[in-house]
Amino acid sequence: MDYHVKDLNLADKGKNRIEWAAIEMPVLKLIGDRFEREKALEGVRIAACLHVTTETANLMLALKRGGAEVCLCASNPLSTQDDVAAALVKHYGIPVFAVRGEDRDTYYEHIWECISRFPHIVMDDGADLTSTLHMIAFRDFERMPEQVKRGLEGIDADALLSNVVGGTEETTTGVIRLRSLEKEGKLKYPVIAVNDAYTKHLFDNRYGTGQSTIDGILRATNRLIAGSFFVVCGYGWCGRGVAMRAAGMGAKVIVCEVDPVRALEAVMDGYLVMPLIEAARIGDFFVTVTGDISVLRKEHFEVMKDGAILANSGHFDVEIDLKALRAMAKSVKRVREYVDEYTLEDGRRIFLLGEGRLVNLVAAEGHPAAVMDMSFANQALSAEFLWTNRGGLEPRVYSVPEELDREVASLKLKSMGVEIDTLTEEQIKYLSSWEIGT
Ligand code: NAI
Repeated sequence: MDYHVKDLNLADKGKNRIEWAAIEMPVLKLIGDRFEREKALEGVRIAACLHVTTETANLMLALKRGGAEVCLCASNPLSTQDDVAAALVKHYGIPVFAVRGEDRDTYYEHIWECISRFPHIVMDDGADLTSTLHMIAFRDFERMPEQVKRGLEGIDADALLSNVVGGTEETTTGVIRLRSLEKEGKLKYPVIAVNDAYTKHLFDNRYGTGQSTIDGILRATNRLIAGSFFVVCGYGWCGRGVAMRAAGMGAKVIVCEVDPVRALEAVMDGYLVMPLIEAARIGDFFVTVTGDISVLRKEHFEVMKDGAILANSGHFDVEIDLKALRAMAKSVKRVREYVDEYTLEDGRRIFLLGEGRLVNLVAAEGHPAAVMDMSFANQALSAEFLWTNRGGLEPRVYSVPEELDREVASLKLKSMGVEIDTLTEEQIKYLSSWEIGT
């Protein structure tokens, strides 16, 4: 079996951690049990480009139990857990191409490895597989990474593409990329926006990113949150979670937004809301979670306090303008494992965590398994849905079917031992008719 991981000797440690995560993933386990019974994904080749974590490992195992042939590469060069990658190869026979800290060339070599297996289904977190496949479809050699160009030699590119039944997308940023492809009429196959399922973003983006972002900041810095000014840029699903958890630890939270409705919500939730240029002067911690580019930039660095700490939890490392920060610094020094100290001309120091990449995955372990249980249950059910409905879907971005979303919620409640009420016949009638008044 081909693979590329850091060190197979790490496999036993990885296996223990994968099993630890499994304890908190009962919904995915139930789905895996059914997949195995029904051989739901027999012979389906799945290429997955996801953060290589213990939770992702459990998703790979559930798909494999259903009969799928899976191949995994990383969706971020710094988020791979090398022990997990090793365990998947050694103990579970799953080809993995991911090494923590891999450079850009290796990153794309790994993406190509998964694509070159002629997948039926592609599973993305940030749309890198799908955008690479679309570069291939449009013969966009200018933007195409060299590794992909080289790999394509001697391969029937049209056959590769026509083999793809559909894709799934895990995160907000990926869905934005896909919708823009769809809008331009260029999307080549159906993709399910897993991120948009309620049982994904309400829990994963909010509680998962909320907790793990704070976890990443704490592990990287060991600084006290209580009493600090904690600036959250972006009050979407992730931003709400980060703000909530920072406030819970005693921070004075400042929210910066561009959307008036979200800004108003932050005001009513009890946070200070102001333009970033004002927050920049007082913040101790800054977290970007917008999915946008150059949110924290030169004009903000210029007015920050000595010792300000910057972290990003948005998908790409573009939210903090690193080029500007580097240009303003007279020296840069790594002072702790995930902390780089930028000393500016006037002597002020700005600390950047995790090189501006997803702080929760770089400096901590990503989302806790209990929320990924739901996100990845949606992924698994969406893969099955794509396979069952192959040929019958249009090349567009689909939502997770409502019944799947509800099924995930019901299974999660059941696994938690929580029961809920059901509508009576009278209530069903009342809620579905217009005639009945008071
Ligand atoms: P969202 O769309 O719900 O929220 C983004 C918010 O940022 C919006 O309210 C928008 O108005 C605001 N915004 C955009 N540009 C801004 C600017 N220049 N200044 C201030 N606010 C701005 O998105 P969601 O789900 O919260 O995701 C945010 C990012 O986090 C995405 O890149 C997503 O892919 C990523 N993500 C990261 C995870 C992680 O593990 N760290 C997990 C899930 C999502």
